[in-house]
Amino acid sequence: MERILKEVLDTNRKYVNYGQVASYIPELKNAHRDDLGICIIDKDNNVYKVGDCETKFTIQSISKTIVLAMALMDNDWIDVFSKVGMEPSGDPFNSIMKLETNDTKKPCNPMINAGAIVTTSLIKGATPQEKEERMLKFFRRLAKNDNIGINYDVYESEKVSGDRNRAMAYLLKNDGFIDGDVEEVLDLYFKQCSLEIDAVDLARIGMNLASYGIDVENGERLISERVSRMVKTFMVTCGMYDASGEFAIKVGIPAKSGVGGGIMASVPNSMGIGVYGPSLDKKGNSVAGVKILEDLSKKLNLNIF
Ligand code: DON
Repeated sequence: MERILKEVLDTNRKYVNYGQVASYIPELKNAHRDDLGICIIDKDNNVYKVGDCETKFTIQSISKTIVLAMALMDNDWIDVFSKVGMEPSGDPFNSIMKLETNDTKKPCNPMINAGAIVTTSLIKGATPQEKEERMLKFFRRLAKNDNIGINYDVYESEKVSGDRNRAMAYLLKNDGFIDGDVEEVLDLYFKQCSLEIDAVDLARIGMNLASYGIDVENGERLISERVSRMVKTFMVTCGMYDASGEFAIKVGIPAKSGVGGGIMASVPNSMGIGVYGPSLDKKGNSVAGVKILEDLSKKLNLNIF
């Protein structure tokens, strides 16, 4: 397996030159464009790594999958889906447009920023601190890594540059999709995006989703089967934003990207894959990361369709 991973990494290294690291969140500009790493954790708990798998980066939009799972565990599903939809938007991740033009004004799905801000607002807790602690605990449990924490430089940077998210959140509050204090919700959203992880953490979380929510190491149930199915389904339809259709055709694996450069992929009953490559295409997906997953899908026969 390691030989295949190395081969796939080497052949796709050239693609880092075709993208750029994210710059709209100023702190993300510090990433190294050439970094590239792949980690696979399979259902027998084997861990395979090549390249930059120890490099830390922020989880960004990949957090939306986990917060969605939490929102579904914390609330009645009918309530969740009365506030966020189930359809791909076909628009960029930070688009505000459909919040005005949709009949219901409801955000299309929980993977775009508007929908994710809604799911973040649904996390339960008596105080903002309690919500943050619960969230952190859940991420650490899913990744089996107690060292996961917030990168405060990225968090501050998101906070000062996040006016587009702020605008969406106020609109969502105005239209009844968010209750409570908007700045508090945004604060938690910026924190979840600023969690620092590596490719191994992504592979682990991906495997926990692949196993329908059961920890393959000790058999513990972390997420219910139905919630894990819903999360993977959203990954297929909306996980790569307005490139989700093409990704499903070419790769055929539930996956979620983040502008920090990570992609988390989850092959049902088989493996979790974490890829890190901060050079992004125009849609905000890791350029080499997408190519790597395409090759892995072919070589390891992972297409779920
Ligand atoms: O809110 C934002 O724009 C970022 N914190 C997350 C966006 C993101 O990761 C989009 N992914 N490709």
